[in-house]
Amino acid sequence: MTTRVLVLTASILAENGQSKGLAEHFIARAASRDGVEVTHRDLVAEELPHLGLAELGSWQVAAEERSDEQRALAARSDVLLAELRGHDVVVLGVPMYNLGIPSQLKAWFDRVMRAGETFRYTENGPQGLVEGKRAVILAARGGQYAGTEKDTQTPHLKLMLGMMGITEVDTVFAEGLNMGESHREAALKEARQAIDGLVERL
Ligand SMILES: Cc1cc2nc3c(=O)[nH]c(=O)nc-3n(C[C@H](O)[C@H](O)[C@H](O)COP(=O)(O)O)c2cc1C
Repeated sequence: MTTRVLVLTASILAENGQSKGLAEHFIARAASRDGVEVTHRDLVAEELPHLGLAELGSWQVAAEERSDEQRALAARSDVLLAELRGHDVVVLGVPMYNLGIPSQLKAWFDRVMRAGETFRYTENGPQGLVEGKRAVILAARGGQYAGTEKDTQTPHLKLMLGMMGITEVDTVFAEGLNMGESHREAALKEARQAIDGLVERL
């Protein structure tokens, strides 16, 4: 059986991006595993715009009744949704920028968190409709936040994933990357080792 892995990266720092570097490490290790297929989507290259009313409205119109403009707008989300559905594991390379997730990654979530598609509202609150998937968060930060209320990223990401039904989430932290070279090297080494362990279990 093939395990299909979707890797999403969102670093604006190009080849210096540490979360992207960790994602690339994940991809390289996964490539050595039989039965693992990887798709990589760079959300910075993607340049998804902010979600707006016209695009939101296009989802509410039946596919066969959409105007040309609505078809083009709805396609943004449809493509990303199909890609999410077509993979078993979602790996998120997540830089911390200004105490939150990059807006590029939020723009992806804004396209895949669609009522009636990936979750539905019920009398008991939202119910996830995405079944049988796992996620891995690769979190790169200049400072140290894991396990404190200042980690605004991983609880938010887990809430969004969980709302769609993805509740099995592993997190690898690479923290203190701007706290001196020896600290950075040690954090990245530890993160790469944690990734190796996760890839073993794919
Ligand atoms: C625009 C910008 C904002 C940042 N804001 C924070 C921050 O709020 N907290 C923090 O710990 N590090 C911050 N950093 C440092 C990054 O988290 C660090 O460089 C990390 O490696 C970013 O991930 P990346 O290398 O994958 O892009 C910031 C870096 C940039 C470029």
